[in-house]
Amino acid sequence: MIGPANLDYVAHNRGGVLRKGAMKGIVFSGMQPSGTPHIGNKLGALDNWVKMQDEYDCIYGIVDWHALTTGYEDPKEVGRQSLELAMIWLACGLDPQKSTLMLQSAVPEHAELHLLFSMFLSLPRLERIPTYKEKLREIEGRNLTTYGFLGYPVLQAADILIYKSTHVPVGKDQDYHLELTREVAEQFNRLYGQLFPITQTVHTVFPVLPGTDGRKMSKSYGNTSSLTDSEDMIKDKVRNMVTDPQRIKRTDPGRPEVCPVYAYYQAFAPQEAERTAHECRNALRGCVECKLGLVEPVQAVVRPVREGVETWQQQPDEVARILHTGSQQARGRAQQTVTEVREHLGLWQP
Ligand code: TRP
Repeated sequence: MIGPANLDYVAHNRGGVLRKGAMKGIVFSGMQPSGTPHIGNKLGALDNWVKMQDEYDCIYGIVDWHALTTGYEDPKEVGRQSLELAMIWLACGLDPQKSTLMLQSAVPEHAELHLLFSMFLSLPRLERIPTYKEKLREIEGRNLTTYGFLGYPVLQAADILIYKSTHVPVGKDQDYHLELTREVAEQFNRLYGQLFPITQTVHTVFPVLPGTDGRKMSKSYGNTSSLTDSEDMIKDKVRNMVTDPQRIKRTDPGRPEVCPVYAYYQAFAPQEAERTAHECRNALRGCVECKLGLVEPVQAVVRPVREGVETWQQQPDEVARILHTGSQQARGRAQQTVTEVREHLGLWQP
């Protein structure tokens, strides 16, 4: 859950002018512009980001450089996908009046901080990060034994620390990266003097939504629903969902705890979840009927996003303007930190 704002941050601010909102705690989170986000991303991340807007000073970044760490061979789509992601964010309720919405590559100070961190970070430490080894194995057909891919979590640490973020809302899969971020801050502070806060991870309360086939939800498995899927696509996907494989006949009692359809009821129609579980366990409702009942609750989540995106698509210049303004704001803050970083290192600033 969301913890109290880290007031230590204020103490670290070395008597500088406190920005409005700094007392609230500073949030940074990022998302790669690699394909349309799916319903799990909304429930697991975006809904939480939207809520945090009122409690924290939030900066949300479209991390296009991160997309290049694995997609460097074919970067042509990254620009278009960044704009599309911005539209989805806006349609999901991220509000440029409340939060700073920025594009990573428009704030080159992230790269400067990444470079300076890379000076003291140990290579074996980075190679030991479990997600690195896992991804190397998982992602086939691409050479990922690159400098940039090994440095992925270092760039992430730079994204977070350049705004002196106190809280980062992410999924559990990012824990190793956040651990590294804290170590980077500690190492920097030890080497060059106190500057960075020790960032807290904020886990989403929402349970992980499985894919429509019961496996982990992942674009590469084709078991997701994108946030811009049409009504028909959603209907098909929900109707074709996998259910408890041991429930073969309509009269067999089912096991909701292993059924992805039940997991979706909990997420999309929590008020019906209990009754659904009861009727499943007692074979009072068949799987087909159960899935049909899920179609509308899923539509109700996707529909406003799809329609919102359609509206934003009519005004791409406005979306570009929002990201431009947000990136400029972010850049001002990033430049401030980079100046302090250079001072801490003792670099000559002519
Ligand atoms: N690695 C994150 C992910 O894949 C994306 C990311 C990049 C990020 N920089 C970040 C998340 C900074 C939080 C904070 O989801």
